[in-house]
Amino acid sequence: MRESIAVKLWLLIVILVSITLMVVGLSLNTLLEDLYFDIQARAMIEQGRNIEQIMKKVTSQEELSYQINTISSFIQGHIMVVDRKGMVGTCNPGMPMQPGMNLSCEEVDEVLKGSIIIRKGRNFGFEKSMLMVAVPVQEQEEVLGAIMLFKPVEPITKTVSDFRRLIFLTAIGAIVLATILSFFLSRKITKPLLKMNGFAKRVAAGDFSGRVPVETSDEVGNLAKTFNFMSEELEKAEEVRKQFLSDVSHELRTPLSLLQGYAEALSDGMASTEEEQKEYLDIISDEATRLNRIVDDLSDLNAMEAGQLTLNISEFHINDVLKSIVRTFKPAAEEKKVTLDLKALVGETPPISGDQGRIEQILINLVNNAIHYTPAGGKVSLEAQYNGDNFIIKVSDTGEGIPPEELPYIWERFYRVDKARTRKKGGSGLGLAIVKSLVRAHGGTVTASSKPGEGSTFTVTLPRKCKTA
Ligand SMILES: Nc1ncnc2c1ncn2[C@@H]1O[C@H](COP(=O)(O)OP(=O)(O)OP(=O)(O)O)[C@@H](O)[C@H]1O
Ligand SMILES: [Mg+2]
Repeated sequence: MRESIAVKLWLLIVILVSITLMVVGLSLNTLLEDLYFDIQARAMIEQGRNIEQIMKKVTSQEELSYQINTISSFIQGHIMVVDRKGMVGTCNPGMPMQPGMNLSCEEVDEVLKGSIIIRKGRNFGFEKSMLMVAVPVQEQEEVLGAIMLFKPVEPITKTVSDFRRLIFLTAIGAIVLATILSFFLSRKITKPLLKMNGFAKRVAAGDFSGRVPVETSDEVGNLAKTFNFMSEELEKAEEVRKQFLSDVSHELRTPLSLLQGYAEALSDGMASTEEEQKEYLDIISDEATRLNRIVDDLSDLNAMEAGQLTLNISEFHINDVLKSIVRTFKPAAEEKKVTLDLKALVGETPPISGDQGRIEQILINLVNNAIHYTPAGGKVSLEAQYNGDNFIIKVSDTGEGIPPEELPYIWERFYRVDKARTRKKGGSGLGLAIVKSLVRAHGGTVTASSKPGEGSTFTVTLPRKCKTA
């Protein structure tokens, strides 16, 4: 994996460098060669012109031969003079041609017509490749002959091949540099990726504590950030799950051990009288009912949190619901010596649209709590208001109240303010969690305010038309 990125990067850089150097090298090569030959040719034409001047001044053939020999060794090239018929007049020694030879070829024909000729390659019997310049000798428009200069091409191409070698060496240097560069670059890219790979494997194995260092602000850095965010979320979810599981098992353990204890007592014949037996059986039945309720509440809560709760929306009047609640709780309130008071909606109010059964469940949970946590002689009141958009239902009591530091937590599953005491009273701490989920499902809000020792008020606000999220 790591090698693959490094190799890809290296190949990319090497190919790029090679192509660039090849294009630059080739074009520079031809350019340089052309320029070099052009400069050489110009110089040779200049020399040809000079020789033409000398030719016009010398008086004898011997003197011309002497001059041409001197110049030829001076410019390190060969010089040959031909007359208007293409006959070799003078040339320096060591040339493949001799004076008196008739040269009949294209170049000679052309130069004798009066134009300067430049040719590169093998010609005139030279063994090596030569650069040839032919300059016509003229006197008043009349071509008298031509001066031809030859220089070996070799020293010129040597410079060009030096240049070629330089380009080649540069290419090798660039490839070495690219290798080093791609190694470090790919290391830099792949290092955090490898780290993330390791962490991802640990996450897959259930360890969410790992965090990747965010070293850059590029795509890789962003990936690291997202990765860390994912780990945090997973860690949180895992904690919630663990807490929930331990809460559930804790809640189930007590009624189950009670069930077991009383059942064993019965079968061991510990209950001697029929009354005692009935009492044990009643406890068993109560605990079984409680267990059933907890399981029902939990599956309700789960459905709500998974968004699987479907509301049966219908239109009904809040006052009808409030009256039925009061009817239901009247016996329980009387038994506890708690007054149950109702301030129903007054005047013309529209019906609410929502799930009647669920709204009843909300109020049952709240009124149940209010009666539950209010001692004898206290008062529980239900009050409804309508403000044009929302129905506001208040459930207040004159009970023990809730300490302010506990208020934010009462909505959590299994949360009870006084665990030991409320446990005996039969609460499992799921009631308010269900209330909150149900109110939310209707698009409403629920808040609690309380003064310890004086009482609590729970305020439910429900939109007239249920806004299902
Ligand atoms: N009206 C109230 N007055 C005082 N304390 C309250 C009141 N309502 C709720 N509480 C506190 O908030 C806690 C959570 O209430 P919740 O209704 O969620 O659970 P519960 O009543 O203990 O059990 P459950 O309703 O599941 O049977 C209670 O245990 C209690 O300590
Ligand atoms: Mg409750």
